[in-house]
Amino acid sequence: MKILRTITEMRAAVREARAAGRTVGLVPTMGAFHEGHLSLMRAARAQNDLVVVSLFVNPTQFGPNEDLAAYPRDEARDAALAEAEGVDILFAPTASEIYPDGFATSIHVSGITEVLDGAARGAFHFDGVATVVTKLFGIVRPDDAYFGQKDAQQIMVVRRVVRDLDLDVRIVACPIVREPDGLAMSSRNVYLDERARRRAVALSRGLDQASALAADGFRDALTLTGAVRRMLAHADIEPEYVELRSLDDLSPVSELDGEALLAVAARVGGARLIDNHIVRFEGEPPAGEQS
Ligand code: PAF
Repeated sequence: MKILRTITEMRAAVREARAAGRTVGLVPTMGAFHEGHLSLMRAARAQNDLVVVSLFVNPTQFGPNEDLAAYPRDEARDAALAEAEGVDILFAPTASEIYPDGFATSIHVSGITEVLDGAARGAFHFDGVATVVTKLFGIVRPDDAYFGQKDAQQIMVVRRVVRDLDLDVRIVACPIVREPDGLAMSSRNVYLDERARRRAVALSRGLDQASALAADGFRDALTLTGAVRRMLAHADIEPEYVELRSLDDLSPVSELDGEALLAVAARVGGARLIDNHIVRFEGEPPAGEQS
């Protein structure tokens, strides 16, 4: 596996691969790899000739009071893990390579960035994500790019950029990878101390309960979000949001009809955690529940 740090080197490597008729898969990451990242690399490896993983802790998607400085970084460990997954190139540029002096462009997606994490963290967050991902697409020119479903809103934002700017890349969403007790894997889980780690499982348990209710025919958003809120309250967790939103445009869903995104965010100990389920209503509403 090669580690490349400059855009010029990265472009040359991709140009050579493309000239040989090879397809290119990109896994954009901020490092601190866990099984979730490795599952994206495996998917990319299975579907492409050349696999590029970018490792860049993107400063523009962090707010002034967020964890940019503390964000876990261990390039040597990440490189070893990526190499073991058969990754061909680890693209690990410096901040000045990506944002040279005079950098003045930002990509803003309206609408779907104004709710959930966009509201909780601020508009800068998805502007930072959309801008860096678009740059990575421009540098690597992948056929396929792989993202984890844990960041469901991020995937929707990236898909919207691809559609609106006519970028020639297929966005592949990969399932959330969970710890044995259900906690969604996240680089930020390292911030959890033992007690917070035990409490954190309430997010996935609440989502499990809500999914079970939906499968039983409960369609009302308040019933479904209430199940999550109750589980969080039991673990003494105050959510930033628990919301049922449309998978098309993230508009609020008051009554489930088909599929919708049930998303939760909360601070637990030192970590800000997010998780989600796609909940489905397939059956008849139970007796007594309004349809
Ligand atoms: O999901 C992440 O790790 C980041 O938001 C991404 C997509 C690599 C952009 O910095």
